[in-house]
Amino acid sequence: MPHDPSFTPTQLAARAAYLLRGNDLGTMTTAAPLLYPHMWSWDAAFVAIGLAPLSVERAVVELDTLLSAQWRNGMIPHIVFANGVDGYFPGPARWACSALSADAPRNRHTSGITQPPVHAIAVQRILDHARTRGRSTRAVAEAFLDRRWNDLVRWHRWLAECRDPDARGRVTLYHGWESGMDNSPRWDSAYANVIPGDVPEYQREDNKINTDATQRPSDLEYDRYLWLLEEMKAARYDDELLSKTVSFAVEDVFVSAILSVACQVLAEIGEDHKRPRSDVRDLYAWADRFRAGVVETTDERTGAAKDYDLRAEKWIVTETVAQFAPLLCGGLPHERERALLRLLEGPRFCGHPDLAYALIPSTSPVSRDFRPREYWRGPVWPVMTWLFSWCFARRGWAERSATLRREGLRQASDGTFAEYYEPFTGAPLGSMQQSWTAAAVLDWLG
Ligand code: SER
Repeated sequence: MPHDPSFTPTQLAARAAYLLRGNDLGTMTTAAPLLYPHMWSWDAAFVAIGLAPLSVERAVVELDTLLSAQWRNGMIPHIVFANGVDGYFPGPARWACSALSADAPRNRHTSGITQPPVHAIAVQRILDHARTRGRSTRAVAEAFLDRRWNDLVRWHRWLAECRDPDARGRVTLYHGWESGMDNSPRWDSAYANVIPGDVPEYQREDNKINTDATQRPSDLEYDRYLWLLEEMKAARYDDELLSKTVSFAVEDVFVSAILSVACQVLAEIGEDHKRPRSDVRDLYAWADRFRAGVVETTDERTGAAKDYDLRAEKWIVTETVAQFAPLLCGGLPHERERALLRLLEGPRFCGHPDLAYALIPSTSPVSRDFRPREYWRGPVWPVMTWLFSWCFARRGWAERSATLRREGLRQASDGTFAEYYEPFTGAPLGSMQQSWTAAAVLDWLG
């Protein structure tokens, strides 16, 4: 049975704010205090969304820190390492980015891969909040946009040009970590073709912090994760070389949908704030391109989207949250979209009779890949609930958005701010005090 709700909304918001304060290192917020003691790219965007109702000024600092670690080619790296903080593997020495790539920043240690481009959504939430504040706060938000507009456009341009060089409308990833959904069954077949060579010795840190092996990726998976790093280092993180040499290369339909939404959002911001017309034009064109790329993958009958394995030259069909990518960015023919909503709300996902809350499990409980406790193989991730709820509101589906918000808040009312939850029992799993879970709650209650 679900845990009894223990905190009122006011108490919950106060605890969430307190949590973000506790995870704040000054100019960056750790993704979680122990398991993830640095800044992660998409976590930082969600953190900024949670900070915006508390302090627009502090939210801006979060994105500034992230963008100050942007690579010269435009990539936002998936981790910006906190100075002098250990306790996470692979750390800066293992990535060796600045030693290998002229594109890596000199003044910051980062990882050499990327993560889903949700940042434009954070910029929009910051501007939304700034509009309700006094003149000096509005000026802070405006100055941020002036200062960072080019960087934000460069980021989207890098994804569109370097990660979709043939303009197929889908973002290519060279590591499962780039999807944010590290061990999703989506990547099992592609990882099966990654044959680890000589992986330099290593010690995992994550499983010292979360000692329940049923909640984290396995050692076999880690060997592959670390082998891909070696392949990338051999290519010196060069975009063109990666596309030829890394043994994992997939077109991620979910990241592609996020990119479409983000380009659309940034284009609208650009129009509102009188940014260069050529930038706005490019952003709209990318929004269209990636929306079409997502729609192209969908099943005619169910509307479900799929990923593509570039190495095996095969579509990847799994029953995961990524199937619903087109609901984020739109573009499906009406009937197909109705079918996909029925799939989402039916017994294979949110309508499964045994769920503690009517939320989207990362993998369908009826799939044979489903593991209710294992990271992206089943648990419900609050940050996904937030993303779908926000996109649904944007798409004009107020009731669906409100349902996800309500169920998400019921789940979060245990006050643990867990990274993910067991779908049937509602038990909190992974890291507790996860910053982006607190951020989702703050946005919902803000
Ligand atoms: N999510 C990965 C981890 O668990 C890295 O991005 O460490």
